Amino acid sequence: MRIYDAGKIITGLLIFLALVTLPFWFNAVSGKSSHVPDPQIAPDTPRCVRDKDYMKANHMDLLNKWRNQVVRRGERKFMTADGRQFDMSFSRTCLKCHANQQKFCAQCHDYAAVKLYCWDCHVEPGTIKKGSSWR
Ligand code: HEC
Ligand code: HEC
Ligand code: HEC
Repeated sequence: MRIYDAGKIITGLLIFLALVTLPFWFNAVSGKSSHVPDPQIAPDTPRCVRDKDYMKANHMDLLNKWRNQVVRRGERKFMTADGRQFDMSFSRTCLKCHANQQKFCAQCHDYAAVKLYCWDCHVEPGTIKKGSSWR
């Protein structure tokens, strides 16, 4: 192989590499990737009511349990494994620590194509939804 052919091959390879890695560079420069969910939690937020692995996989079951316990049995207290006590409330507990549903819940749900209707009735912390007779 003659030396100037090698030069062309190397140039071609470099252009090829630049093209296939373009999406990566684009994301690195724009600072965001449209494909990876990035649920954000304020750094000073106290620990969750269960450990992270459990919450990641089972938060919907826990929410169901809480709802059933409050609505069917009138129980409102939840004790964590490390002895902290919480009110079993969607708005006043979960959303107190996870107040920004756009930057938290929706990060994963948009990715997983999950549509939630909870906010039709339940409100962001500290507010009462208009037309609703309860908190
Ligand atoms: C006292 C604050 C607090 C409360 C209350 C709380 N969380 Fe969390 N949550 C956290 C923190 C902090 C994390 C990050 C993991 C950790 O450090 O425990 C987390 C993690 C999670 C995760 C996993 C996120 C990930 O990146 O995988 C989910 C889902 C979640 N919480 C949902 C809920 C739901 C639903 C409720 C109500 C049933 C709730 N949390 C109540 C603070 C809280
Ligand atoms: C770490 C990613 C992640 C975070 C953060 C997260 N979710 Fe989810 N959530 C999921 C996934 C994935 C599913 C779908 C699970 C399935 O289909 O089995 C889901 C499902 C649910 C469901 C059941 C929906 C249905 O139609 O059955 C509820 C309720 C729910 N999430 C509530 C919340 C709330 C409220 C928050 C914010 C406080 C939250 N989630 C934050 C990943 C997340
Ligand atoms: C049609 C209105 C409506 C929708 C939609 C709704 N809820 Fe509720 N939810 C209620 C009412 C009413 C109560 C009883 C409030 C009470 O007794 O404190 C309740 C109670 C709860 C409770 C226990 C008590 C409390 O204060 O939080 C949880 C947890 C809960 N809902 C979670 C959810 C989740 C998660 C979703 C979405 C998947 C959802 N709800 C959607 C009306 C609704």
